[in-house]
Amino acid sequence: MLKDKRIVLGITGGIAAYKSAELTREFIKKEAAVRVVMTKNAAEFITPLTLQTLCGHPVFTDLYAPLTDFDMAHISLAEYADVIVIAPATANIIGKIAAGMADDILTTTVLATKAPVLICPAMNVNMYDNAIVKENISRLTARGYLLMEPGYGELACKTEGYGRLPEIPDIVEEVESILTPKDLQGETILVTAGPTREPFDPVRYITNYSSGKMGYALAIVAKRRGAKVTLISGPTALPAPRDIKFVAVASAVDMRDAVMEHYRHCTIIIKAAAVADFKCSTENCNKIKKKGDDTVMILELTRNPDIIGELGMIKEHRILVGFAAETENILENASEKLKNKNLDLIVANDVGKSGIGFGSDNNEVIIVETSGRAKHVPIMAKEEIAYIILDSVRKIMKKRKRVKEDWY
Ligand code: CTP
Repeated sequence: MLKDKRIVLGITGGIAAYKSAELTREFIKKEAAVRVVMTKNAAEFITPLTLQTLCGHPVFTDLYAPLTDFDMAHISLAEYADVIVIAPATANIIGKIAAGMADDILTTTVLATKAPVLICPAMNVNMYDNAIVKENISRLTARGYLLMEPGYGELACKTEGYGRLPEIPDIVEEVESILTPKDLQGETILVTAGPTREPFDPVRYITNYSSGKMGYALAIVAKRRGAKVTLISGPTALPAPRDIKFVAVASAVDMRDAVMEHYRHCTIIIKAAAVADFKCSTENCNKIKKKGDDTVMILELTRNPDIIGELGMIKEHRILVGFAAETENILENASEKLKNKNLDLIVANDVGKSGIGFGSDNNEVIIVETSGRAKHVPIMAKEEIAYIILDSVRKIMKKRKRVKEDWY
């Protein structure tokens, strides 16, 4: 998470410089401490005053300017940074850094820092294609600079191709990932998320209120922590996360098939999906029509496969985490599911409580271990809860490792 992380944002002179205002806002929303450095050309596209207002600190534009109330010279900016992000990065700045030049406040800061440097290029498609630019990029990546591929699309110069500044949420996610310790490296995690959709004719279906936010947060945080992640998702309004294998499914039966296809090579399985327990007994190929004065319609439902129950029987060494959506006797019901389904951990939430759970960005859960120990996690963002759930998973991993070491 970016709270209190120190980000130095370098802005260079391209038309995409206006997007750096939104990037600053996103960093600030996540409670990061942002200091902005602009080249002279960047200040032709967007004013330092805009960035100063957004980040709440004077903007650095001139290597030789007398220090203001915030006394940070270029060297201390380089030391201050947990990460330096250059967005947009022009062909010019890429060339200057690759050549080891230090003739303004941004290049001087970059050359003097030991922090990771993320370069987000944005330029004309032909410039990006130019062999010299490509060579400079290769030199930088070979030296450990981090580079995001520019996006594809229509560019300001009315051409189409690669050269757009990567999308702002993608840059923010990349920075999150850079600053997150990789304590799940080597793990392969399967996460299911969202609702399932059980059709009863070609135009109608039964579903539930799950938004998928908790499962997606788990998948994204697991990826940030270095795991290889597969996300099997029912229909949601959320975008498929980057750098995660994404499998879209609709019904519980589809989800079961996808889980059975992917679980084998996984070390951890987290079933956050709100799977419909029942599906329609008959599949109507045509739309069900009203008949006469019908005032009641009866649908016959049959049980869906209990995916996690099946996994509990075949999981072997894998860590299996379930969720319990409850409206009453939360701890008792969750503990029963933990035991009956042979899980290693269960996350119980009160889906009847307003402001948390289904559809909300926040949640409040109880994490129950097989020992019976239950940890209450008060209301907080689902992303923060994802970190805590994965910490509990790591606790199980560590415990198993200790047992194994004692054994040998
Ligand atoms: N689950 C599943 N397959 C189903 C139903 C649920 O894999 N057909 C999983 C969910 O993903 C969740 C856990 O089982 O991890 C518990 O889901 P929940 O809906 O709380 O409980 P159920 O087992 O369906 O029991 P009940 O609805 O009776 O509370």
